[in-house]
Amino acid sequence: MSPHQTTNNYRELFVGVDAQVPTLSGEQCTYVSLDNAASTPALKAVQTAVDNFLPYYSSVHRGTGFKSQLSTRAYEDARNTVMAFVGANPAEHTCIFGKNTTEAINKLARRFPFTEQRNVVITSGMEHHSNDLPWRGAAHTVHVGLTPDGCLDEEDFDSQLERHKGSLALVAITGASNVTGYLNPIYRLAEKTHAVGAQILVDCAQMAPHRAVDMRSIEDPSHLDYITISAHKMYAPFGTGALVGRRDTFGRGDPDQQGGGTVEIVTLDEVVWAGPPDRDEAGSPNTVGAVALAAAIKQLEKVRMENVANHEAELTAYALSRLPEVPGLRLYGDKDPANAHKRLGVIPLEIDHMPHFKVAAILGHEYGIGVRSGCFCAHPYILHLLDLTPDQSERAREHVLAGDKSELPGLIRASFGLYNTFEDVDALVEALHRISRAEYHGEYVQDRATGEYIPEGWAPNFEEYFSSA
Ligand SMILES: Cc1ncc(COP(=O)(O)O)c(C=O)c1O
Repeated sequence: MSPHQTTNNYRELFVGVDAQVPTLSGEQCTYVSLDNAASTPALKAVQTAVDNFLPYYSSVHRGTGFKSQLSTRAYEDARNTVMAFVGANPAEHTCIFGKNTTEAINKLARRFPFTEQRNVVITSGMEHHSNDLPWRGAAHTVHVGLTPDGCLDEEDFDSQLERHKGSLALVAITGASNVTGYLNPIYRLAEKTHAVGAQILVDCAQMAPHRAVDMRSIEDPSHLDYITISAHKMYAPFGTGALVGRRDTFGRGDPDQQGGGTVEIVTLDEVVWAGPPDRDEAGSPNTVGAVALAAAIKQLEKVRMENVANHEAELTAYALSRLPEVPGLRLYGDKDPANAHKRLGVIPLEIDHMPHFKVAAILGHEYGIGVRSGCFCAHPYILHLLDLTPDQSERAREHVLAGDKSELPGLIRASFGLYNTFEDVDALVEALHRISRAEYHGEYVQDRATGEYIPEGWAPNFEEYFSSA
């Protein structure tokens, strides 16, 4: 059997993967979704769970009716499902539902018990802005350096740890990069972090949909103190995320958001906060989102995370072996197909002399292929990978501040999910071949304010495909 044919049936598990979309030529084609590092399509199991739940949906926690009790149970069951999925232990950890990873990390930044002695956070130069900016506002933040091809420089990590060991409160590191797909050695970093008396957060937004996460007991030196996930990257796009972390942290201090649900009792003179997780879930929660996330997790568990990882590694190895055939195409990060199982299927690339915004636009408008281009909310990492000189970076900064993103440095990113196939890789490679030979039909005009390219005289009629009316 040729490796070009997909033999599993994972694709059947998903909603909308055979959707037809319009192209500039007037033809329709099956959409090829290669933007899974941003958001993933829904699993059918998620759609079914939400459909089955909605007739019984009602208020949670304090409602006395049958539907309220059922909804409360579904919400709390979802919490247990998330905790079991990441190896958390209810005696040591709590799971706080929120909107997404960004909200979760911001919450931890506000709730972490920094002290005068321990007020340093070590993060890295490869982080998504969501695991960098919240720390800059909350503590003295140190960025660990990177190797030239964008891996975490573990020697620098060790020396920063040594330098800050007396004042280090927290290491905040990504489990996997949303730009290069690199997986960090999180359990080893956790051991080193705990050895100097600090705690560790692993941003699992990117890792959790593709690799098993195991928080381990806090007795184990390699445990993870906090992790975050985003359901829209895990095939459950209903607006939920979770922060799973130490009960002792969330059992003390004032909640960052205060209001309904966060208290034991309130008088005009006194407020007694509830225990975790209620203290940190102010207001009415997103019950449907939690039910959806739990359904996605159960489906992923049925598939098994080893199978998810193996399938995506095969796609990645195949893509890394085929993409260099495209004239003028440059890959970033680890280019070796033999290492595909050691990283995620997130592949950054560019085509010589062609703006990344333009290549991405042509892929979308003419080939029905969805990728992403730009900096992927990781500006420092992209500047590092592109090896820009300080002058080039400064020029880019000035242009952006002047309202002109037309020359914004960046890359194109193709990222795989469980439902992608070898045929999807072939479609991408074939389209990039044609683009590299200037075989495209639109006259593309750039909007300098956004940097994006639009084909002149053509726009899809979205109403034909979806309208909320
Ligand atoms: C590694 C990483 N961290 C954090 C985030 C932020 O996730 P969200 O937008 O769901 O808050 C992302 C999103 O792409 C990510 O890839």
